[in-house]
Amino acid sequence: MFITVEGIEGCGKSTLLAGLSERLRDEGREIIVTREPGGSPAGDAVRAIFLDPALVVAPLTEAFLINASRVQHVLETIEPALRRGAAVLCDRYVDSTLAYQGYGRGIDLALLRSVCDAATGGLMPEATFILDVPVAISRERVASRRAALDRVEAEDDAFHERVRRGYLDLARTAPRYHVIDATKSARDVLADALGVIAGIAA
Ligand code: TMP
Repeated sequence: MFITVEGIEGCGKSTLLAGLSERLRDEGREIIVTREPGGSPAGDAVRAIFLDPALVVAPLTEAFLINASRVQHVLETIEPALRRGAAVLCDRYVDSTLAYQGYGRGIDLALLRSVCDAATGGLMPEATFILDVPVAISRERVASRRAALDRVEAEDDAFHERVRRGYLDLARTAPRYHVIDATKSARDVLADALGVIAGIAA
């Protein structure tokens, strides 16, 4: 089982992933929780470049950096885990590239799809949760972390609005997408996601 969790900053992905992995592990399955950019040693090195606020990175560079990280992630982490029967829960994947580099930065979606497809060999998740929150709430949650903003978090509200709208647009294109209202409590968000997973596993 391959599941991805998506959404704008501060939407609650980490909390949902922690809850999902705990509940699914209780059922005795092997669960791998991983993330993008990252998920392999080379991917983690790319992550540091990708998020460094001191670097100037053009939109197309972002798209290629993220997909370089993704090649290693799929080869070293995701595919081996799926092959041995583990469930893979991934914090961001191809849909982040479509939402951020496509809707956010304005790169052509067809081009991005073809680069992502080359990077993943066509491996796509069975279910994708899009945790939807208004940008104002996202901002409050990110500010409350008191950590320095990374290069993408530091973008203006209009950018994050485009990304949010992008996710909601994507959600209408395939049945694997499940939009969850992430202004709800963490418990309710987890319950919604577990309900969807029960449907897949059945
Ligand atoms: P995180 O803060 O959720 O770990 O994500 C790191 C940042 O990377 C987040 O601001 C979104 C961005 N990102 C992209 O712009 N494109 C991508 O394809 C991925 C995976 C992440």
